[in-house]
Amino acid sequence: MPLKIIWTERFSVGDALLDAQHQKLLIILQRASECMEDDSPRGRSLFHSILNDVCVYTATHFRTEEALLSQCHYPELEAHKAEHVAFLAQITELAFVASQGVVLKADLHRSLFLWVSHHILESDMEYRPYLEKKLRNPPSSGHGDAAPEGPDKNKD
Ligand SMILES: [Fe+2]
Ligand SMILES: [Fe+2]
Repeated sequence: MPLKIIWTERFSVGDALLDAQHQKLLIILQRASECMEDDSPRGRSLFHSILNDVCVYTATHFRTEEALLSQCHYPELEAHKAEHVAFLAQITELAFVASQGVVLKADLHRSLFLWVSHHILESDMEYRPYLEKKLRNPPSSGHGDAAPEGPDKNKD
């Protein structure tokens, strides 16, 4: 029986939209577990459906997450993006071989499981304090994220 991960509040990164997207990936992981145990033609079609959903998910989630991290000036953003790119490369490889008729159910499940357990529950958790700080200190109109003012060049 493949391992499962159940989402609880302690997995929250402090943003409702990102949490909802992470929960969606846990549902996809659950489907990947069921797919591994289904050797019927339905299991094969489920594999392709899951792979497609992961591609759609990553396109949306990574864009959302990277935009938010940029807004809160997360210092590890580039390293974080590199992890996203590495995961995309794994999924692209699985999609490539799937297009040639090779269905790698266990590889898909392992990639998703490791992504949830190592990236979401470790790397994503590291940006939580930055999101919380941004929530506590929203930019105020006119001053918030504005660059510090330099000397008044119009002064005589
Ligand atoms: Fe994430
Ligand atoms: Fe991430």
